[in-house]
Amino acid sequence: GQGSTLTREELVREGDPTNNVSDAIFTRLGMQLHNRPNHPLSILKNVIYSYFDERCPKMFNKFDNLSPIVSTKMNFDEVLVPADHVSRSYNDTYYIDQETVLRCHTSAHQAEMLRGGNTHFLVTGDVYRRDSIDATHYPVFHQMEGVRLFTRADWEAAGMDGIAMAEKDLKETLEGLAQRLFGSVEMRWVDTYFPFTDPSFELEIFFQGEWLEVLGCGVMEQQILVNCGRPDDKAWAFGLGLERLAMVLFDIPDIRLFWTDDERFTGQYPPCFKDISFWISDSFTENNLCEVVRAAAGDLAEEVKLIDEFTNKQGMTSHCYRIAYRSMDRSLTDEEINRIQEAVRKDVEGKLKVTLR
Ligand code: PHE
Repeated sequence: GQGSTLTREELVREGDPTNNVSDAIFTRLGMQLHNRPNHPLSILKNVIYSYFDERCPKMFNKFDNLSPIVSTKMNFDEVLVPADHVSRSYNDTYYIDQETVLRCHTSAHQAEMLRGGNTHFLVTGDVYRRDSIDATHYPVFHQMEGVRLFTRADWEAAGMDGIAMAEKDLKETLEGLAQRLFGSVEMRWVDTYFPFTDPSFELEIFFQGEWLEVLGCGVMEQQILVNCGRPDDKAWAFGLGLERLAMVLFDIPDIRLFWTDDERFTGQYPPCFKDISFWISDSFTENNLCEVVRAAAGDLAEEVKLIDEFTNKQGMTSHCYRIAYRSMDRSLTDEEINRIQEAVRKDVEGKLKVTLR
């Protein structure tokens, strides 16, 4: 699959007792559902990213393209999973060889991110588990991992102990996230166990008549920080399953639907990209640009994304946005797109007081 340099022959080796990857699993590698515009997993991922960006502007580094093929060291050892833990068994995890697995959780990336100097990060990706078959279980699903570090200066400024501060911030952050996703629902914290956090919690919300587990989290085990060269810091970590949340939020009745070619999931018709560059004015905001794009394109506007930004010696700042146009139910003609893009250019210049380049 894409995103791995291994061939099918290297990944699927029937009869090799150190390998239990099947063809069905191999075909899922590199599918990147969480990075497809319009796919419910990608929509949910972006809602969560926006929440963190609003809460802590420019703090969280995001990674959504890390290879799911990881060492047992990353997947287990570095997050302190005990030698005899069931998740290490060939019955629970897909092994490529004795020391290489398809990650069974995004926690596999905690240590490498910490060693890379990241202090606030979100990692989204496909994870793989051998499991039972029903409407909510599938051997490939998607998780998002979040980690935030605190330094002595942080907890001293707050007049708190480091662990207490990490726990308090963790709970406030995740309660805010649950509220963003589900509105004002009843929530409860349940004590639990994870090898990599202490204390450890699950957040549950009361939704449509039942308590639903939303995520697992906790204060990061200090040993992980010590091993990653951060002995003086404290941290929190959480991991959440995107399918589980998306099924509830978007009323998706069966987990297999995420993998179908249903146009609601893939965007069946091709997108068309147009770039627009201009010198911004002091009053320019991205939301104003988006209003202009919506006025001209209606629902044909799928995404407006800043792809380049720089300031020249005179202090003028240039932005380049890429606009994706796509219909949910038909192919668009070049003529139609060009007409819309012309209208966007005209309104951007006339209404937003910017100078087109
Ligand atoms: N990795 C855990 C899981 O897959 C979730 C988790 C992540 C819990 C980070 C605590 C901290 O269930």
